[in-house]
Amino acid sequence: IQKIIIETLYKEHDLSDKDLIWLIDNIDNKGKKLLFEKSKSLRDKYYGKKVYLRGLIEFTNYCKRECRYCGINAYNKKAVRYRLTKEEILECCENGRKLGYSTFVLQGGEDSYFKDEVMVDIVKSIKKKYKGCAVTLSIGERSYESYKVLREAGVDRFLLRHETVNEELYRWLHPKSKFETRKNCLLNLKKLGYQTGAGFMVGLPWYTTKDYVGDLRFIKNLQAEMVGIGPYITHEDTSMKDYKSGDLETTILMLSLVRMLLPKVLLPATTALGTISKDGRKAGLDVGCNVIMPNLSPENHRKDYSLYNNKKSSGSESAQALKLIVDEIEKYGYKCDMARGDSKMLDSSI
Ligand code: 5AD
Repeated sequence: IQKIIIETLYKEHDLSDKDLIWLIDNIDNKGKKLLFEKSKSLRDKYYGKKVYLRGLIEFTNYCKRECRYCGINAYNKKAVRYRLTKEEILECCENGRKLGYSTFVLQGGEDSYFKDEVMVDIVKSIKKKYKGCAVTLSIGERSYESYKVLREAGVDRFLLRHETVNEELYRWLHPKSKFETRKNCLLNLKKLGYQTGAGFMVGLPWYTTKDYVGDLRFIKNLQAEMVGIGPYITHEDTSMKDYKSGDLETTILMLSLVRMLLPKVLLPATTALGTISKDGRKAGLDVGCNVIMPNLSPENHRKDYSLYNNKKSSGSESAQALKLIVDEIEKYGYKCDMARGDSKMLDSSI
């Protein structure tokens, strides 16, 4: 029976919630082997063995939010805060461009310093200087107006994980926030024509199969062009320090299912995946991931962008550091690609 369900999923890129729940709860090793083969073949069909590299710039770790799981939440007095200047951000891009990058991902905490005017100025400068590059922002919740202004300034993509569809748990994780707001932000991003990234953490406390299926359904309904999934990893200076981290196996299963539901999605083998296991990234690529986001942030601040314990940082600020990553990926049988790598979901001819 699992074989039939997996084959239906492969053909239709969808399943009823009931079947998804059944599959997650009952899949055995044989089933996983089949599922992973299928999800990998979908990645191969649309993207081949290409793995897109994105230059990640963690430009501020100031954050006004209260996310319990996150090491840079506003209440963590131990976090050593930093904020890059516009010039420093542009320097990271310059460095990245020399190495061949054509997507820059600017990620930061929700830092009030970076008002619309400031962000617009930064984005316009990058887009002007590096013609044809893509700019992705990952800077949290903002108003429709703000997303609109940023889009008009040239931002191509936006990453905003929905974190969990379980509204009660969402409230516990973010005591001052609502899932509803997060969802509206994602809908606004879609409406404004961003390639939009949602996603969730695996292994949150009290999580059930039904919750995972809710997350998968949310992503499918949103038609997210990008999906970030990684294990929750404990950070010792947060109020969740006593909750254990998520595991590799469940994360891999979720990545594979996302590829099956959205065959053309851009799916990173996340830093968190590479952090919980030294084989995490390979395992992700082997079930259908096709993006890696090496770090272009200045070396001296990197340790301070600590979302969770032992956060691995695949630095790529120098040619040598980048070569290590490229060699690793190519050793696994993939081909690194530094083109813009837009989502093929935009391209209806395929
Ligand atoms: N473990 C794993 N992922 C985390 N994130 C934040 N804190 C943690 C953690 N402790 C993820 C969230 C957020 C993204 C930027 O990082 O999903 O959206």
